[in-house]
Amino acid sequence: MILYSAPMAGYTHYAFRNLLRLFGGVDLIATEMISARSFTEMEARRRDLPSRLYGIKDEARPLTVQIWDNNPETLSFFANRLASEYKVSVIDLNFGCPARQIAGKNESGAYLLQYPERIGDIVRRVVGAAAGTPVSAKIRLGRTRDTVNAADVAQAVEDAGAVSLTVHGRTAADMYRGKADWDEIAKIKPKLRTIRLIGNGDIGSAEEALFRLRNYPVDGVMIGRGCVAKPWVFRQIKQSLTAGETALQEPSGQEMSRIVAVHLAALRQQFTESVALALIRKMMCRFISGLPGARKFRNDICAVKSADAFMTLVNRQWGVDNKYPITDNKADSAE
Ligand SMILES: Cc1cc2nc3c(=O)[nH]c(=O)nc-3n(C[C@H](O)[C@H](O)[C@H](O)COP(=O)(O)O)c2cc1C
Repeated sequence: MILYSAPMAGYTHYAFRNLLRLFGGVDLIATEMISARSFTEMEARRRDLPSRLYGIKDEARPLTVQIWDNNPETLSFFANRLASEYKVSVIDLNFGCPARQIAGKNESGAYLLQYPERIGDIVRRVVGAAAGTPVSAKIRLGRTRDTVNAADVAQAVEDAGAVSLTVHGRTAADMYRGKADWDEIAKIKPKLRTIRLIGNGDIGSAEEALFRLRNYPVDGVMIGRGCVAKPWVFRQIKQSLTAGETALQEPSGQEMSRIVAVHLAALRQQFTESVALALIRKMMCRFISGLPGARKFRNDICAVKSADAFMTLVNRQWGVDNKYPITDNKADSAE
């Protein structure tokens, strides 16, 4: 049973991936989707490379880098560089994004679902260019409810040499409305011979992940929004799978304080202090949801202007001495 974190544009940047590793339990972590065309053009003009490549060269492995475009040559060029120079663990092809900017004018992402043979051609060429680095794909059920064709696309992806396929149980037309249809995901499994099928959609807790893993014919699950709200969810799932624990443990105040300090430091490496604070505020508002004092904490963290003041509030909320100030670079080994 494999646990994947989902690629999420605007969320799964370097610092967030680091945060997931600190909590543990996740088998494969994905970047945000990166435009193959931007990479190719920026490199040709010797300009700065896409900011979403930040951290990828040096961070821990395993790491999946997700890429998008509709041109097999452009994708192959980028895939080759990711394999040879960046030495990433897996290259994932995005055939599921329904956003207008991707699936509309750029005819990429979920737009391609209507052409399983084009998807097969892209996967085959990228597998060749990736020279041994595994290639995977992520799709939705189809373009619309009337044209669900995930099984055909899955077969094209398998025949072209990918190692795994993630299916988000909605169509492109659904966007994020309604519920992910896991029965449709299940229908794909009998059509596949070798590649792993990863189910995705609406897993918000460890209990829901365990339910999907036990009741649907998938080799693993991918979690997106659920791990933004609870980055420790993978550890809870792993604990239940391996030790059969029934009481799922939440992070202690000490751990929360230590990990938030490390996360803030990682955000500050990549972003300015005000952007880092904005990003971590958004995240902490999710963590605090439903806990005592949530409203006051939310108001207080919205008013602070420095990372140190922010950490003081976090430590107070989680009942920890001001032990992990953000200026302490050794915060993650202090405990
Ligand atoms: C803010 C946001 C950004 C996303 N960005 C990507 C992306 O870059 N690539 C991708 O394949 N899917 C992307 N997705 C879709 C997720 O990977 C996932 O398929 C979807 O959220 C359903 O899973 P969940 O219910 O566990 O969140 C994004 C979703 C959200 C909410």
